Amino acid sequence: MTDSQTPPEPQGDPHLDPPAQEEPQPQLGRVIRTGPRTGPASDRPRRSAAWYDGDDRNTYLHRAWMRRGIPDHAFDGRPQIAIANTASDLAPCNSHLDEVAQSVKNGVYEAGGIPYNLPIISLGETTVRTTAMLWRNMMAMAAEELFRANPVDGLVLLGGCDKTIPALLMAAASVGIPAIVVPGGPMLNGTFQGRPLGCGTDVWRLSEEVRAGQLNADYFVKSESSMIRSRGHCNTMGTASSMACVTEALGMTLPGVAGIPASDSRLLEFSHATGNRIVSMVEEGLAPADILTPAAFHNAIVALAAIGGSTNAVVHLLAIARRVGVDVGLDDFDRIGADVPLLVNLQPAGEHLMEDLFRAGGFLAVMNEVKNLLDPGAITVLGTPFVDELAAHRVWDRDVIRTASEPLQRAAGIAVLRGNLAPTGAIIKPAAASPALLQHRGPAVVFDSVEDMHARIDDPELEVTADSVLVLRGCGPRGYPGMPEVANMPLPTKLLEQGVRDMVRICDGRMSGTAYGTVVLHVTPEAAAGGMLGLVHDGDLIELDVEGRSLTLLVSDEELAGRVPSASLTTAYAAPTRGWEKLYVQHVEQADSGADLDFLTGASGPDVMRESH
Ligand code: FES
Repeated sequence: MTDSQTPPEPQGDPHLDPPAQEEPQPQLGRVIRTGPRTGPASDRPRRSAAWYDGDDRNTYLHRAWMRRGIPDHAFDGRPQIAIANTASDLAPCNSHLDEVAQSVKNGVYEAGGIPYNLPIISLGETTVRTTAMLWRNMMAMAAEELFRANPVDGLVLLGGCDKTIPALLMAAASVGIPAIVVPGGPMLNGTFQGRPLGCGTDVWRLSEEVRAGQLNADYFVKSESSMIRSRGHCNTMGTASSMACVTEALGMTLPGVAGIPASDSRLLEFSHATGNRIVSMVEEGLAPADILTPAAFHNAIVALAAIGGSTNAVVHLLAIARRVGVDVGLDDFDRIGADVPLLVNLQPAGEHLMEDLFRAGGFLAVMNEVKNLLDPGAITVLGTPFVDELAAHRVWDRDVIRTASEPLQRAAGIAVLRGNLAPTGAIIKPAAASPALLQHRGPAVVFDSVEDMHARIDDPELEVTADSVLVLRGCGPRGYPGMPEVANMPLPTKLLEQGVRDMVRICDGRMSGTAYGTVVLHVTPEAAAGGMLGLVHDGDLIELDVEGRSLTLLVSDEELAGRVPSASLTTAYAAPTRGWEKLYVQHVEQADSGADLDFLTGASGPDVMRESH
């Protein structure tokens, strides 16, 4: 794609005078390398040379076993590119990535590199037990070690479903060799009986309608086959869509790729171009640390707010930042993002779906609306400023992408709360909350585990009113373990039947990016780590003040000093005795640090000196 295909400059108000027939054209990067080459293009030493250069026994072993049809000149210093591929039939949002990988391969070959498919542990968000977040760090650790152990000079990271892009980015950031992401893209809009169905968001909404007796259960079940219409990840602004956009805002993708539907042939075009580009990145020595700067994280936080993105992106961005040694903290999300307007009218905060966002101009058109809030110093995988990519991207549908002066909401970023219930922080997404509940005081109704909540939430004897504050604990990284998406706990049926649709809920776990409600989540320290959440009793008054950024348990210090965690809460924390869970519980950090393992923060680096031959 060339500059001659750049859409024309807007004439007048596009909302009043829309150029209806034109399709948005994602802009491929300007310095993508194309065409074959005849030999190494730079003298930059290759990491892979440590395996292949020379004529001794070991280099013989390395080359000979890799041949299998690979020609001699593959080992003449050409960039060796691993395509980290999370395709899996059991991670259905990523099941199409083999086709994406083939396009990347074509691009790598075309640019003179040698591509290798590298299957990586994959995670299907809806099916993996006990929660996919338990395995994010395992996936990141496995990917990191595979990147380090193999003779590769550059990485193309293929992800989609919620945890897959964060885990790959964490790994690549720690290893530090050139890397570029291809997000797998969202699925097409689903519809049922003439209404759009948003992945996740409409599951929550429709199931609550059934529980409230306002929707026929048959309708609910029949909608199931209409929800997942095509290949790709969830089509709401959930975690997968948020991470695709935020990764592009970080500069770690070719500009324009985030949000291209998985079924759209332009995704394969971008994938081919990505294969081209990674070869040049190796030749230029452009590493993740050059791109993942404080300026890049600033832009990612602005992007997360402007798109109404998932709260899960907070914990993932914190983990990625700590891998690359950038000092980003929870308060930066509030400081940088809280006043950013919500521009994207997508579920769960709005109405539309990801296919609509792409049709309306795409993610970069959104960023163009908040260009003045971005840090111009951040660069992309092209080596040029992120802000330079924005001017060509205009908006084609103002119902989907709003202006900064007429946003969907004026200040929509993540709010960080503190107080005796969350001394080191908790977060809330005001864009997904009920405005009337953002200032609230009510008596606690406490659940010690997910199982306890499910067992009692619909008990007719449960003492709960619309003013109650539902507290769910034992769901943090250490307590569950794995920090599941349960914070948006279902409302008691008896209140649903009275017409109640939202209540203040507080949890040390996470909530799905597709969910909504006045939910305080990621409370730290979690109950299992000695947090005050473990000392709350039924009936204690809790005060939420989002504007004042506070979350307070209105119980005296003297009273709290005499309390101990309840016996049932203690029982819920049966420490794992083997395997990954044991390692995880011993080393996982709290949500305000990204919930990474304490020994995985920082860099491992690309060098592995020993080998066994
Ligand atoms: Fe895979 Fe939502 S379940 S992205």
